[in-house]
Amino acid sequence: MRVVSGIQTTGNLHLGNYLGAIRQWVAMQDEGECLFFLADLHALTSNVTPQELANSTIEMAATLLAAGIDDRAILFNQSRVPAHSELCWILQGTARMGWLNRMTQWKDKAGKNREGASVGLFTYPVLQAADILVYQATHVPVGEDQKQHLELARDVATKFNTDFGVELFPLPEPLISKAAPRIMSLRDGSAKMSKSDPSDMSRINLIDDDDTIASKIRKSKSDADLLPDSFDALAERPEAKNLVTIYAALAEREPQSVVEEFAGQGFGAFKPALADLAVSVLAPVRDRLQRLLGDRAAVGAQLARGAERAQALAAPTLKAAQQAVGLQV
Ligand code: ADP
Ligand code: TRP
Repeated sequence: MRVVSGIQTTGNLHLGNYLGAIRQWVAMQDEGECLFFLADLHALTSNVTPQELANSTIEMAATLLAAGIDDRAILFNQSRVPAHSELCWILQGTARMGWLNRMTQWKDKAGKNREGASVGLFTYPVLQAADILVYQATHVPVGEDQKQHLELARDVATKFNTDFGVELFPLPEPLISKAAPRIMSLRDGSAKMSKSDPSDMSRINLIDDDDTIASKIRKSKSDADLLPDSFDALAERPEAKNLVTIYAALAEREPQSVVEEFAGQGFGAFKPALADLAVSVLAPVRDRLQRLLGDRAAVGAQLARGAERAQALAAPTLKAAQQAVGLQV
């Protein structure tokens, strides 16, 4: 089992990233060989400034370490392992325009201004495929929103293997968190919790202090009804469903057992319990993060060591891909 995943280095990590992706990464460290990286090349497709990019790479690396990524895994930043970019160029010959045109992230991010969007935003999923395939990854833990990009990586792998008559790339499986495939905004139960939401009240950042966490939960959107005794009965109450889902994911319990415990109570009782739980889970992560941010150079050194290990693992696959297409390297 070879596990690979990345996260784009734009801004702060939030509870959705933590429950949907990072907690899975931490758990996977005992299951197989893991490579986790900060996708700083992908971040170039967003409107990040050079200063923001430089800071957020170190800060997000520190957040991952604070969340429990350690020496069992290889942690690095993507741009320091040139094999990602080199394989990406080769795979640009394999990926089809039509495949990329169907990507919902491309459609959402480019919006109506496709002509003015960068080429990098369009070919973003090809770099993601290279990130995965350059390590011959078998498993990729991500949130649900990345499923389509994983399917594209599988299509690229299949076409490359067929076109060049090789069995180079295994088909990577997405691992989607069951507990938290999609954590929603605290202000709108129909929008995903995201760092790109302009309202900071919509998300809990992993750097938030205890009072901020509690106040965001207290002020989160809910409804005036009582909690039912069945989780399925929350289907038409997106905000209520989201808060129960967050509680269950943080407590590592089934949502049904959470509604049973709070059945008949309103959000006046549920929210303080959720706030206490969130603080108890997130405070230790934040405290470790703050300590790590006090020594950014050490975090940078750790990324450099990770990159060396990653480059060594990527080199044979890159070489095999170059040879398969006839490059004399
Ligand atoms: P954002 O949408 O905030 O920009 P990213 O796209 O960088 O977050 O996502 C990083 C990882 O976190 C991905 O694996 C993604 O699927 C996961 N993720 C992001 N937001 C959520 C969410 N609201 N619920 C569950 N997982 C999420
Ligand atoms: N596109 C992913 C996101 O927005 C980040 C990412 C880049 C990634 N390369 C990857 C995830 C490779 C998994 C595997 O979250």
